[in-house]
Amino acid sequence: VLVSGAAGTGKSSLAAAFSDAACRRGERCLYLAFEESPGQIIRNMASIGFDLDPWVGKKLLFFHAARPTVFGLEQHLVMIHNLADKIRPAVVVMDPVTNLSSIGETAEITSMLTRVIDYLKMQGITALFTSLTPGGSPTDEQTDVGISSLMDTWLLLRNAETGGSRKRLLQILKSRGMAHSSQVCEFELGDRGISLITAESTGKRNFS
Ligand SMILES: Nc1ncnc2c1ncn2[C@@H]1O[C@H](COP(=O)(O)OP(=O)(O)O)[C@@H](O)[C@H]1O
Ligand SMILES: [Mg+2]
Repeated sequence: VLVSGAAGTGKSSLAAAFSDAACRRGERCLYLAFEESPGQIIRNMASIGFDLDPWVGKKLLFFHAARPTVFGLEQHLVMIHNLADKIRPAVVVMDPVTNLSSIGETAEITSMLTRVIDYLKMQGITALFTSLTPGGSPTDEQTDVGISSLMDTWLLLRNAETGGSRKRLLQILKSRGMAHSSQVCEFELGDRGISLITAESTGKRNFS
């Protein structure tokens, strides 16, 4: 799964919801943090109601702070393989993969991520990658480091300004092999997680 969006649109929040859900099912999750420290992520996500710390204590959630510039791309690849072999997670989060662009050309990153995705798929691991896109061009190949075509599911998060207030929007750009909604759905981040505001009903559905 690829989650694209500008800064602050809720990518890490969605990644936290994904990780939290896996841990609730008793599955192990490996969270590769390319931007914030694990401490920061745990604190920030606690503010929207995800209590990730206990999962770390229960050895279901494993954070790995991967400062992109410390290693080259090849070493990142080896590191991810080693961690996945050791932890044997059911799900892996890479947040945000676009931070790798500071250490390589787009083509190199694409080829590295292709190998990561192939490897994870072979192991039956579900992956969620987040991708930072600059404001205007959410589907820009450059900013999505060319990996969108490798993804089975691609979500886009946006902020829309309407009449002085900001709305958070989520849409599914693609999802292979399944019928999916083509609606642009509004969602909210609150202190009890993420809620979708469905168009069919005005009621909120909490999927956190
Ligand atoms: N308790 C809260 N209630 C509502 N919104 C919140 C709360 N805590 C954080 N946020 C919002 O969440 C946003 C951060 O989302 P995040 O998932 O980190 O975005 P991204 O990873 O896409 O940059 C902040 O910009 C803030 O607006
Ligand atoms: Mg983030």
